[in-house]
Amino acid sequence: MALALGHPEHGYYRKQDPLGRSGDFITAPEISQVFGELIGLWAAIAWQQAGSPAFVQLIELGPGRGTLMADFLRAAKSVPGFVEALDIHLVETSPALRQCQKQTLGGNRVQWHAELANIPAGPALIIANEFFDALPVDQYIRTADGWCHRCIGMEEGGETLCFIPGDPATLPEAVSDIATGALQGSILEYSPASADHASQMASRMAEDGIAALIIDYGHARSGAGETLQAVRGHSRHDVLSNIGNADLTTHVDFETLSRAAANAGAAVYGPLPQGAFLAALGIEARTEVLAGGAKDDQAGLLHSGCRRLIAADGMGTLFKVLALTGKNPGLPAAFEGMIGNIING
Ligand SMILES: C[S@@+](CC[C@H](N)C(=O)[O-])C[C@H]1O[C@@H](n2cnc3c(N)ncnc32)[C@H](O)[C@@H]1O
Repeated sequence: MALALGHPEHGYYRKQDPLGRSGDFITAPEISQVFGELIGLWAAIAWQQAGSPAFVQLIELGPGRGTLMADFLRAAKSVPGFVEALDIHLVETSPALRQCQKQTLGGNRVQWHAELANIPAGPALIIANEFFDALPVDQYIRTADGWCHRCIGMEEGGETLCFIPGDPATLPEAVSDIATGALQGSILEYSPASADHASQMASRMAEDGIAALIIDYGHARSGAGETLQAVRGHSRHDVLSNIGNADLTTHVDFETLSRAAANAGAAVYGPLPQGAFLAALGIEARTEVLAGGAKDDQAGLLHSGCRRLIAADGMGTLFKVLALTGKNPGLPAAFEGMIGNIING
């Protein structure tokens, strides 16, 4: 998965801009400008709760076309002093998408990094929308002889890739509970890269504050089952064919991320369904305001975009939002009604 997406020459993200209607998939910021605007206002509230520090690193992981960041910054301007406090850092490995981000964010001072770990310490607002689903997972399969790595090999005598059981494996602690009672043929997924990123984000929160948001599709609780999927041209695709030309993702395991973040010292909130998160921040009211001043076809797109982002049969339930903070006074906006999180109930 790491090579298929990130190989310097043949990797899917290295070669192209896969987003949008003409690409392979569409993401929330590309559906409605209100998405990035509300995240900007959410971050502004976190900044104010932390005492409006004069210097904050605004970090986005996997910023795609830069659309979320552009909408974030436009909304952020309505909060006095906020934009002036921000130092913008983008973590992006794709040269094609870096180019896009440069164009979208032309008027701003932006620094690019290959890894979160390269960004110096300091108070930070960190945003990751549909970043974690692109991080590689390890798979394990239950065989007659116990748990084994699930590997990729060649069909006998052929040239086609196929999944094969590999060496016997000791399951990572994070998924060993859910393995109990699993039947032969069951598959488990665990993403060391995701746990590592959640833990890095959380360490920053614990050390210097202020807040981070992880938004993605996935499950609130860890569970057995395979979620690895390939998408090309907005349709499902075979995972092992056309490697490097189709997007590969998995559903994000929010319980594992929450545990990794809590172990690294952050306060963890959620996950909330994306629909509830955006509704609490006022997506419908903001959409009405924009639609009121727009032509009919544009107003129609704004309304359908809003519906898609929050409806249970759209992205409202499958997509979830996890918030991490340092020792901020007050609960993060939209999470006020929550008295716990997925790991402590
Ligand atoms: C599914 S896109 C999401 C784009 C954007 N956040 C949005 O919502 O439109 C995934 C993004 O993460 C980037 N990416 C994927 N793997 C990465 C990695 N290991 N390190 C840094 N960026 C990565 C991709 O190049 C792309 O910008």
